[in-house]
Amino acid sequence: MLQGKKIIIGISGGIAAYKTLFLIRLFKKAGAEVRIVATENAMWFVTRVSLESLSQNKVYDKVFGPENDYTTEHISLTDWADAFVVAPATANIIGKYANGIADDALSTSLMAFDKKVFVAPAMNCKMYENFAFQKNLETLRQNAVQIIEPAEGYLACGYEGKGRMEEPHVIFQQVQSWFAHDRKDLQGKKVLLTAGPTFENIDPVRYIGNYSTGKMGFALAEELAERGAEVTLVAGPVNLSLQHPGIHRIDVQSAQQMYDAAMNAFPRMDAAILTAAVADFRPAQLNTEKVKRTGDTLTLQLIANPDILASLGQIKKSGQVLAGFALETTNEVENAQSKLKKKNLDFIVLNSLKDKGAGFGTDTNKITLLDNKNQITGFELKSKKLVAKDITDKLVEYLKEHQA
Ligand code: CTP
Repeated sequence: MLQGKKIIIGISGGIAAYKTLFLIRLFKKAGAEVRIVATENAMWFVTRVSLESLSQNKVYDKVFGPENDYTTEHISLTDWADAFVVAPATANIIGKYANGIADDALSTSLMAFDKKVFVAPAMNCKMYENFAFQKNLETLRQNAVQIIEPAEGYLACGYEGKGRMEEPHVIFQQVQSWFAHDRKDLQGKKVLLTAGPTFENIDPVRYIGNYSTGKMGFALAEELAERGAEVTLVAGPVNLSLQHPGIHRIDVQSAQQMYDAAMNAFPRMDAAILTAAVADFRPAQLNTEKVKRTGDTLTLQLIANPDILASLGQIKKSGQVLAGFALETTNEVENAQSKLKKKNLDFIVLNSLKDKGAGFGTDTNKITLLDNKNQITGFELKSKKLVAKDITDKLVEYLKEHQA
């Protein structure tokens, strides 16, 4: 898959630069050609000899220098490459890239590059959370730069938190999977997604909600869109933004609004995957004024919300693929299988709350896929981005069968 692909690895000055040596090895072993662009500070952390031996190419770290060839190297180099991976990416290089500053070999090359860029940030957790840094990161996201989120854990500065550069094999997998999906196997397919929680109003200031963050559904939306699908994403109240400019996002708040949007869109779709954590019940009566405290107890009467997934299952036409999620705590497989049948699904994604690192709010997930042909496939704990890839592969398999 990466055989003959041309990759620039950009290295900026962080201690995680030592891990980049392993990343270079992974690309070389997969048959890619690698050229290194480094900042002056990066060269404090790794040596030229290591970088040149592993990449089998000379390092580009000075915009002006006698060793550069007669062409403007940042242009010839960036014309040459298929993808650019910046690992580690410091707050400084991300700041420069986001704001159009080009004052060294790496920032100049990034500015001249108009193909796919991956950025793997690495820094202290306080720097990572800094408002200016987050703004810069968002600018990159909005310009289709793929951010390989740092992991949480022990940091070289002694702190514990988010900021540790992702492991080389994870960075490698994300780049590899981008190249794999460049095949656009969902071109022209229309896919509906629901994501996030729903909020059911009690009065003008209070609601019933749940802890869903929408991360899994949003990762799936990006993956489907990257593979060529026309994605309609009906999102409950979440704090997330999308990178892919082609995703049609409909923001809703309540289960009823999500139901209306999904039922309206589904007849035009080839497939739907419902990831939302929909509130099963809502207050029977909506108070237009704030509910006052009148005693030591308050009784709320709740009525059932429509089951969006089951409703789509009822109107599903032949050729359409329908999938849902099941979050279970006991008898996981049996419960998921019974939902699959009851809601007329093609496949269901099972999350067990018993699995560490799976479920609400995390960046990782561990799933089991169950389909209506009684196949059960378990997967490892992985990033939600890679889980999205597994689910998308399943969808592609089903669409091929249904629409053959
Ligand atoms: N779902 C939906 N509308 C609802 C409830 C759930 O579309 N009102 C969808 C979810 O998006 C998910 C799937 O149904 O894809 C499973 O949700 P779950 O809450 O586990 O199903 P329930 O039928 O509510 O089952 P139970 O509460 O008994 O676990």
